[in-house]
Amino acid sequence: MKKCFGFVRSPTMSRCGQTKFSELRTVTVMLVLFFAALFFGLSHTKSVSGAYQRPSMAIPTPLPARHGLTARTKRYSQFPHDEKAHRLNCSTCHKFPSANWQKVRAAGNAFPDITEYPKHESCLDCHMQQFFKGAKPAICSICHVIPSPRGGPRHPFPNPRAIFDATAKGKTAISDFAVGFPHDTHIDIVSREGRRRDTFANAAWRPRRLVTGDESCSVCHQTYKPQDKSDEEYATRPSPDNGDGFWVKKGTFKTAPVGHATCFTCHSADTGILPAPDNCAACHKLKMNGPPTDFDPKLPAMMGIDDKIMITSWRRRNSSATFRHEWFSHAELACSACHNVAAMNTADPNTTGVRISSCAACHVTATSEDGGALNFEVDSRKANSGFQCVKCHITFGRSPIPESHTKAVAGTK
Ligand code: HEC
Ligand code: HEC
Ligand code: HEC
Ligand code: HEC
Ligand code: HEC
Ligand code: HEC
Ligand code: HEC
Ligand code: HEC
Ligand code: HEC
Repeated sequence: MKKCFGFVRSPTMSRCGQTKFSELRTVTVMLVLFFAALFFGLSHTKSVSGAYQRPSMAIPTPLPARHGLTARTKRYSQFPHDEKAHRLNCSTCHKFPSANWQKVRAAGNAFPDITEYPKHESCLDCHMQQFFKGAKPAICSICHVIPSPRGGPRHPFPNPRAIFDATAKGKTAISDFAVGFPHDTHIDIVSREGRRRDTFANAAWRPRRLVTGDESCSVCHQTYKPQDKSDEEYATRPSPDNGDGFWVKKGTFKTAPVGHATCFTCHSADTGILPAPDNCAACHKLKMNGPPTDFDPKLPAMMGIDDKIMITSWRRRNSSATFRHEWFSHAELACSACHNVAAMNTADPNTTGVRISSCAACHVTATSEDGGALNFEVDSRKANSGFQCVKCHITFGRSPIPESHTKAVAGTK
């Protein structure tokens, strides 16, 4: 007899780590029995931790500090990928593809993907104690809607986002990862492949005509919720006491891919283009610390904005939070007038910003009288140290004037 999940396993059961349905049922029954035992005072937690044998894997002690917090209460309701002990091969927990991939998307759009939570076996080696904690173990709520020994319905998995984002969990979830997408190696490929449009089997991405240079950007980035021909320019109705204050306009943000449909068109087992779709870590990188952002987390609620795509982009803006892409003079420019994609590492927020030199041609003039917004704000700040710059900024406008700004003004003189 061998040990499995800390319990003594009958010889008829399958190998540890390959949870079969029957085995799951056994686990379920054991869980229910365990809680019954707990309830009737026949057992207590101590005996469980006694039964738990630490795996040979080194678990760091003292507990690692996360997010700069050294001492805080453990929170087992949220799974942190950046926890040292969790930095395992992605495939330890995410088995590609998930069993339900054909059910999650409509028949014509389905492709092999990760669309379900990891199974218990990914956690049990280390978290036996948390799995048997009280009548409502907090750890269950990472995956199950109601924490209870019965399991029951699970939240939709974070992928596909369209389904996940609509749920209570999805609305507030913030990803542990950034996507490392090398633009320089792709722009050419995306343009070139546009000519061979029948190359790909599961073509969610299939440009209708040849795309080159800037146009290739729109394969992955579109203006989000544009105003277009509508008379209403604001994303939500401004409150009556807002006056001339800032309020987000439609068409401010650009989208970026929120899932695998575009990437896996080329990166699939069928095409053989590497990285393969099961090489998660080739594209997903743990988030890095970036520069401060020009974003006030109170604004979305104040403006009645609960759109996840909008808030995610806004939250990341570290140059100009008020810049709007859909505006005749802005939209007419080449993307490359402001974005140098070759110099950008999308996983490193220190490299994704836009320089004020990209704005100078229009918003810096010889003097304030000529209408330059930057001149006006710099002069106003000089006259009144409490003046806040609001044209291009939300939070940055209260800070001292950066050198890049004074240089931009000096440059026109
Ligand atoms: C120890 C198990 C484990 C390992 C190892 C693991 N994951 Fe996860 N992953 C999970 C669990 C559990 C969830 C669900 C978390 C949730 O919904 O709150 C998840 C969710 C995710 C998500 C969606 C949530 C988010 O933060 O964006 C992504 C993306 C993801 N994993 C990618 C990866 C990648 C990439 C790796 C390898 C670098 C990896 N995972 C390694 C267990 C694991
Ligand atoms: C290799 C061992 C190991 C595996 C496998 C593992 N964990 Fe962990 N986990 C740890 C360690 C060690 C910690 C940090 C100490 C602690 O909080 O218990 C931790 C911390 C956590 C925390 C955060 C507690 C906090 O507040 O910081 C959660 C939640 C969690 N694990 C859930 C899971 C889930 C769910 C799985 C399976 C998908 C899993 N872990 C797989 C070892 C592991
Ligand atoms: C990392 C995600 C995750 C966590 C944490 C988790 N579960 Fe599950 N659970 C699953 C998945 C996935 C299945 C479906 C497994 C399958 O289909 O093979 C499942 C299935 C079950 C089942 C089988 C019946 C059903 O509802 O499908 C029970 C019972 C269950 N879980 C109980 C629990 C309990 C109790 C806890 C907390 C102590 C817990 N689970 C924590 C992911 C999780
Ligand atoms: C095949 C898809 C694809 C194409 C084509 C593409 N991008 Fe991207 N782009 C991405 C992905 C993926 C990211 C990372 C998004 C994320 O982190 O969620 C990104 C990120 C960006 C960012 C950074 C966003 C930020 O602030 O974090 C900018 C700017 C950008 N792209 C501009 C461009 C421009 C300009 C072009 C055309 C020259 C272009 N992209 C072409 C997929 C693409
Ligand atoms: C006049 C300058 C300018 C032009 C032209 C421009 N952008 Fe931007 N873009 C910005 C600024 C400023 C930001 C916000 C950057 C920040 O604060 O981090 C931004 C952000 C983005 C983002 C991140 C999502 C968001 O909205 O915050 C993407 C993606 C992007 N731009 C793509 C494009 C594409 C594709 C084009 C061409 C069709 C383009 N941009 C043209 C200035 C410009
Ligand atoms: C039109 C086909 C196509 C699409 C769509 C595509 N890729 Fe690629 N990708 C390629 C090819 C071809 C390579 C190999 C390039 C090389 O080695 O020169 C590649 C390479 C890569 C690499 C490794 C590059 C390196 O320099 O090591 C990463 C990471 C990557 N792609 C991520 C993505 C992501 C993320 C997406 C979706 C946002 C995506 N790709 C969409 C064709 C594509
Ligand atoms: C070729 C690149 C690529 C590979 C390989 C890849 N992903 Fe992704 N993944 C992406 C992109 C791009 C997105 C959407 C952009 C984003 O997350 O900001 C995404 C989104 C997700 C999401 C949706 C939640 C979220 O953070 O937006 C999950 C979950 C996820 N990936 C998990 C995985 C897992 C698990 C693997 C490995 C089995 C994997 N991915 C492999 C590129 C990739
Ligand atoms: C025309 C638009 C515009 C105006 C007006 C503007 N800024 Fe900026 N600001 C930017 C851009 C673009 C950046 C991104 C980085 C850079 O080039 O400095 C930025 C960055 C910043 C930063 C970030 C830190 C840094 O060193 O880059 C601060 C702080 C800042 N601005 C303060 C101000 C103040 C104070 C004023 C008013 C005197 C002002 N800005 C007016 C566009 C503007
Ligand atoms: C090709 C000229 C041009 C460039 C380059 C340019 N803008 Fe503008 N921008 C305009 C014009 C014209 C307007 C409309 C008049 C005004 O509000 O000043 C405008 C308006 C704006 C507005 C107000 C939009 C609104 O609808 O309320 C902001 C904010 C702004 N620009 C920021 C920027 C930033 C930040 C940059 C650099 C990243 C930039 N602009 C680059 C021409 C330009």
